Amino acid sequence: MSTAADDAEVRARWQELVDAIDAARVAYYGHDAPTISDAEYDVLFAELTALEAEHPTLVTGDSPTQTVGGERAEMFEPVEHLERMLSLDNVFDTDELQAWFDRLARELGAVPELVCELKIDGLAVDAVYREGRLASLATRGDGRIGEDVTANVAWMTCVPVALHTHPDGPPLPEVLEVRGEVFFNLDDFAEINDHMLDLGRTPYANPRNAAAGTLRQRVDRRVAELDAARAAGSTRVSRLQAEADRAKDLLRRLRLVVHGLGRADGFAPTTLSDAYAAIESWGLPTAATTRLVDDQVAVRDYIESFAETRTGIAHDIDGVVVKVDSLALQGRLGATSRAPRWAIAYKYPPEVVRTRLLDIRVNVGRTGRVTPYGVMAPVKVSGTTVEMATLHNASEVKRKGVLIGDMVFLRKAGEIIPEILGPVVEVRDGSERAFVMPTHCPSCGTELRPEKEGDVDIRCPNARSCPAQLRERLFHIGSRSALDIEGLGWKAAGALLDDGLLTSEAGLFDLTAEDLLRSPFFTAADSTAGDVRLSENARKFLASLAAAKDRDLWRVLVALSIRHVGPTAARELARVFGSMVELRAADVEQLSAVEGVGAVIAAAFQEWFEVDWHVEIVDSWAAAGVRMADQRSSAPRHLEGLSVVVTGTLAGFTRDQATAALQDAGAKVTGSVSKRTGFVVVGENPGSKFDKAISLGVPVLDEAGLQVLLESGAEAAREVAQAPSGQ
Ligand code: IVH
Repeated sequence: MSTAADDAEVRARWQELVDAIDAARVAYYGHDAPTISDAEYDVLFAELTALEAEHPTLVTGDSPTQTVGGERAEMFEPVEHLERMLSLDNVFDTDELQAWFDRLARELGAVPELVCELKIDGLAVDAVYREGRLASLATRGDGRIGEDVTANVAWMTCVPVALHTHPDGPPLPEVLEVRGEVFFNLDDFAEINDHMLDLGRTPYANPRNAAAGTLRQRVDRRVAELDAARAAGSTRVSRLQAEADRAKDLLRRLRLVVHGLGRADGFAPTTLSDAYAAIESWGLPTAATTRLVDDQVAVRDYIESFAETRTGIAHDIDGVVVKVDSLALQGRLGATSRAPRWAIAYKYPPEVVRTRLLDIRVNVGRTGRVTPYGVMAPVKVSGTTVEMATLHNASEVKRKGVLIGDMVFLRKAGEIIPEILGPVVEVRDGSERAFVMPTHCPSCGTELRPEKEGDVDIRCPNARSCPAQLRERLFHIGSRSALDIEGLGWKAAGALLDDGLLTSEAGLFDLTAEDLLRSPFFTAADSTAGDVRLSENARKFLASLAAAKDRDLWRVLVALSIRHVGPTAARELARVFGSMVELRAADVEQLSAVEGVGAVIAAAFQEWFEVDWHVEIVDSWAAAGVRMADQRSSAPRHLEGLSVVVTGTLAGFTRDQATAALQDAGAKVTGSVSKRTGFVVVGENPGSKFDKAISLGVPVLDEAGLQVLLESGAEAAREVAQAPSGQ
């Protein structure tokens, strides 16, 4: 019998699992940056499903088991899919697969004909064709509403913009909605990541993230920005050109395989395999590896045949999808709120290989955290060559029981981060030795210690001048989410320090061409004249450094490496206070009143400015001409307290410009319409927000109305607003 204490424990574990899964989903879908591996995610999800099966009262509508994962990003217009896009239930071994076959047999009397497909590790999209022409391409989003990425189709070769009919094939349906997977082939992925490394940027964790990151870029805006810069004769042209070219190249390399049908008016196939044949005849890409099979043995053969060759195919797969072929039977089986009962994903176990652990070294991070990592004999696993893997901290090394010199098991969990699983104890020969966590910083020799008692991590407290930390901070300053300085990559940061050009980030903006000439990294020898000149990259670095002095305040804040102050908090802080002077004058209470900035960030922010050498950085950057305030319009904040939603495409503004203008005037720009919304500004092709405004009676403004709102305020705008019907 269960006791109240048991119940509380079960409920607490349930909550823990839900929180972990939700956080992982946000990281995965919202930011294209997974925090845990797919395998870890699957383990959490399986535990949650089992727990809920045992305690059905725990299940709520917002449990991850009841919803399809995914968070919508705000950059794109939302688009509602014509039919809901479901996810798939997973099985992890042949017993679980057998249980699925048994259920089919129970419900249908026998196991029906099945379609076997590869489960491509990419990004699900939904394409709608009207009268044979592409009307929209959208990401899956939350399954009901996705992001409209149609603007990128212009540069994608994998998505046909027009369909055609085959003489012997079926006619084109009036409305055709297909679903498919967008992905990169492994060789393209490797090239893309090499290029990222060349640029000094962090490579993508896996092809799926690369595909998501590529598709969710506003390439049309980049091109528009480039055109504008060109027209204005701006110095940014070459850089913008390079960026736009790169974005286009990435889009061109994306591939598509159609794996499902949504709405199809005037098209009524009887089987999925017929539907695929028709879809292919209209010019859409389907998978050549798909097989129609008539028994369970053939399904197992299919699974086995690709288990062996899975790294031999051109793209990443993480399993096989088995689907009932008959659409009538699919209808009979139906679906849960999350996934159809007529399909199942068989997930392959992550590939595990063996290799020699040559050494365990430690890395000193940007905040001084000291992390051990394994150096291994290079080995190929899940498509890429691996020679390093993090071991997180000293107790993790102990827990795994690995010794230097051991043969170890290694896997890339969910094709993401290489992980050392443990030693192959049987093949030890006695020459292996235990890893000893250093007591002093390998970079600067300072004694290491935990930040506070009980921390598992130890840190190098010499934040100011430890070369390893300094290098990480310099590299961070140049990164895309901070001051975005071309040429300030990992190698350049090392050279600046090693060759004595910098001893702190304070001097970064004082660097001159003469300084750089002292470092071989930045020079190119001119063999004919025998003298030394700046390399092309060094020139670009200096130009980009000069341009970086004029970046927005939030980027400067991010560049300072203040604990907990990432782009989101920095943007809000900059928006509210507008200048470094105002920010430094603010007290904790004022800081923590800013949206998204809690007590922790506010305290970290203030503490940072209490350190002399931190203040020196800010002061010397300012002295070198780094702009420490945002350029604000002098317009009075006459829209203070007003909440506005912008939807659709405007002619005279980009969305960002409209948002900035409204915010400058004091308005709050939000993403969703509610009764409290003051106005909804509607451009061309508005989405469901327009309908919502009408149904809630919120006044709607067109672009001219927006001008009135900005220039003359809310009252004047109300007069020109489209009055909701019946009001
Ligand atoms: S069918 C209603 N088929 O896997 C069925 N999905 O884990 C929905 N995926 O969201 C999907 N290859 O992005 C299907 N051959 C395939 C697939 C496939 C990859 C992805 C898809 C889906 C996810 C579910």
